[in-house]
Amino acid sequence: MEASGEEVISVEDEAVDKSKFKTCKQIAFYRRQKQLRLEKSLYQALLDTLDITNDSIKFQVINEECKIPLSVEICEIEDNIFRLKINEIKPLKPRYEVPDVLIKEPAKFRLNISERDAGKLVLACASEDQQLHITANPFQIQFVSKDEIVLSLNSRGLLYFEHLRSPPHLRKSTVQENVDGSSASSEENQDVLGLWKENFGGFSDIKANGPSSIGLDFSFHGFEHVYGIPQHAETFLLKNTSEDDVYRLYNLDVFGYKIHSKMGIYGSVPLLLAHKPDRTMGVFWMNSSETLVEIATKAAMKVVPSGSSDISKQRVLPQTDVRWMSESGIIDTFILMGPRPFDIFKQYAQLTGTQALPPLFSLGYHQCRWNYEDEKDVEGVDAGFDVYDIPYDVIWLDIEHTDGKRYFTWDKKKFGNPMRMQKQLMKKKRKLVVILDPHIKVDPLYTIYSQAKQRGYFVKDRQGEDFEGICWPGLSSYLDFTNPEVREWYADQFAFKTYQGSSEILFAWNDMNEPSVFRGVELTMQKDCVHHGKWEHREIHNLYGFYQQMATAEGLIRRSGGLERPFVLTRSFFAGSQRYGAVWSGDNKADWSYLKISIPMLLTISMAGISFCGADVGGFVGNPKPELLVRWYQAGALQPFFRGHANMHTKRREPWLFGEENTRIIREAIKERYRLLPYIYSLFYQAHTAAEPVMRPVWVEFPEELETFGIEDEYMLGNALLICPVTEPKVTAVSVFLPGQQEIWYDFRTFKCIEGKGIVKIPVTLDHIPVIHRGGTIIPLKTSVGKSTEWMADVSYELRAALDYKESAVGLLYLDDGHSFQYLHKKQFLLRKFTFHENVFSSRCADENGQFCTKCIVEQIVLLGVKKQPSFVTASIHDGKDKAVAFTYDAKSSVLTLQNLSLNVGVDWELQIK
Ligand code: GLC
Repeated sequence: MEASGEEVISVEDEAVDKSKFKTCKQIAFYRRQKQLRLEKSLYQALLDTLDITNDSIKFQVINEECKIPLSVEICEIEDNIFRLKINEIKPLKPRYEVPDVLIKEPAKFRLNISERDAGKLVLACASEDQQLHITANPFQIQFVSKDEIVLSLNSRGLLYFEHLRSPPHLRKSTVQENVDGSSASSEENQDVLGLWKENFGGFSDIKANGPSSIGLDFSFHGFEHVYGIPQHAETFLLKNTSEDDVYRLYNLDVFGYKIHSKMGIYGSVPLLLAHKPDRTMGVFWMNSSETLVEIATKAAMKVVPSGSSDISKQRVLPQTDVRWMSESGIIDTFILMGPRPFDIFKQYAQLTGTQALPPLFSLGYHQCRWNYEDEKDVEGVDAGFDVYDIPYDVIWLDIEHTDGKRYFTWDKKKFGNPMRMQKQLMKKKRKLVVILDPHIKVDPLYTIYSQAKQRGYFVKDRQGEDFEGICWPGLSSYLDFTNPEVREWYADQFAFKTYQGSSEILFAWNDMNEPSVFRGVELTMQKDCVHHGKWEHREIHNLYGFYQQMATAEGLIRRSGGLERPFVLTRSFFAGSQRYGAVWSGDNKADWSYLKISIPMLLTISMAGISFCGADVGGFVGNPKPELLVRWYQAGALQPFFRGHANMHTKRREPWLFGEENTRIIREAIKERYRLLPYIYSLFYQAHTAAEPVMRPVWVEFPEELETFGIEDEYMLGNALLICPVTEPKVTAVSVFLPGQQEIWYDFRTFKCIEGKGIVKIPVTLDHIPVIHRGGTIIPLKTSVGKSTEWMADVSYELRAALDYKESAVGLLYLDDGHSFQYLHKKQFLLRKFTFHENVFSSRCADENGQFCTKCIVEQIVLLGVKKQPSFVTASIHDGKDKAVAFTYDAKSSVLTLQNLSLNVGVDWELQIK
């Protein structure tokens, strides 16, 4: 959105002004790459240059026209991942290679040659049934699994690599260049192609390094479903693209972004997944410059490995062609071979890390508004939650809490005693989050500005001066978070004695970090700005927000002496952002269509490794009608990050402002979230340790079931709950698809078994959205809720077991202090596994390394789908005596309830049900 200083945004004009943003045809490197219209690649592999080392193979490929060679490096990384790197052999200057995204240099395996001649190379992989076939002319790579080609690279000949070159005026030669660096074109044509300069919206992007674009095509054979590459306000299943409508990965601030659009918004993760019933694959394109992705799914002839004479195997199969194009950098891409969906998540996490384990409070409900006006307002809203008996954990302060949008300061009139305010919140066991944007007001009297200026910590413009752009405070400079020294310094700003008025319950929100620059080209920083190491902004653009969140998280950890887990919400993100906190989907609107699209948007982000994600409940722009608000609370309560937020021009919308009935329903939705927190926290532990997404598409749990591949209006929360938010007004029934052949599904609230298979109609009232408990799973819940998560630490547990057709169920519970790193450093945690099998319900330790003292007990166990009334139930606690257990059985609903239990959650026990 565009506004400066005290300027305000007109919400009346809510439509995105598309003319401010480039269409793909207005992107010069896209136009250049689209000139490549060939059937055959211009590149040939020079297999006589083959160099085999212990952990990789290298050879050269040469462009037939310009004759400039490139180096190709291929290696196999443990866990069924391949890496392909293509770079210039001797670039004029180094090309940008994305740092800090991989958690470590991956361990490599040796690739062995199993066949070789002048035109072909076959490499045997660590996994016996996999091979890599490299063809010399034209250059192509095929990934062969069990004699079947699953993926080929450059089979459409779209490998593209613009070589760095000296600017035309420095060159003696009169030979002019073609787009790929080879032959002639007029000066006028150079302008059209944007080789050295690109104009848009009154701005000129001067390309000091000239054209440097790269691209490559991938064909997934047998696949017709592809997902990923967030962030777009689009369907979950990626769509086929057209010449003027491709997926854009370019982090931009798009206020009230348009729905069903492939334009780039706040964050980018260049990870694409392809799925078919017997295999899931992934491609991680590690490039942080502007990136475009074309997708085309079509029917194609099955390809047989080159050299194979077996044409009898040929038949028509689907194929999905994906073309990646980036403005700059090198080709550095990872092929994740799966084969199952959860293998892909692990493979990707092995490269970029897992979701940070959030502090427990941050999984509670967050109340935000632009703005809570002053300390009294905060006090009033906080008290309102108690008056209306609604749990919540965090109140948020937006930009107006600062002294003139100078982050790390307080508006002295409105927030004269922030410490007192925080102490009051502390007493209520609640937290505060404040906003810290990356732009810094140009004001020599503002310490953050003057220090950063003096130390040279701002991003520079092309002339080497501090870049100045307009954002909330008016004229601002932008911290260069790509510089490790700046990140250190920034992290130090969170020290309690430096950040006046901050306490240990204050956490952080990084916004506008695409970065947003009002009145800038596409409302962001010019690409010819210069960062640490003399890298142009063009190279790092999509990484800028990632680095701010990294520095902020580090600051919060550091201020606690390394003891406490941070909480940082960021708007802009990249691959790896999951390591630093949560993301949300930016400035959505108070409209049903935005509630609906929040599901595919969050599923896509979750699949890209970022489990901790959410959308503004109620919609940021505009005023939701009560029914929409209620439905949004019900949906948000069952999504990973749960925050109500609203724009400054909207009416107040604290949950109790919409009449008694709506307040009751919202209260119930939030309370249900709090009862479910042990389950949700355990899911986050699994995301943290095993890279399993918290919110997941149905097909991930049912990968062989074709009908699930396109589902985006329902999803699984973990493996146990199927959620189907209501996203339309006045709905009286919802059609839910129940997957699984032998699966049994139970209504989460009535405990009734849901009859029917496939699509079933579930009646709904405004009270609830359908939540369905999957047979075979056990969910840990709290038996009652408190004012916030911290009030609930000692509340007892209920274990809810839904039995499958074998009359069994399993589930996990993770438990720790909820806030520190002791779970990691001192192994102070419990991981318990509950099993119901052959009429025995048992609790066992699922990780012997962990230990955690807790007085918490399991008070109640509810078993759904118990066919007959037991005659007795006994409990045996390790080395104790057997004890009879009180129970009730409801034959009509087949529910067995074991009550008044007092089973310590940290020890082994068994219940015999006879
Ligand atoms: C941006 C954010 C929004 C925030 C506002 C003011 O629009 O997306 O959440 O309230 O800026 O800081």
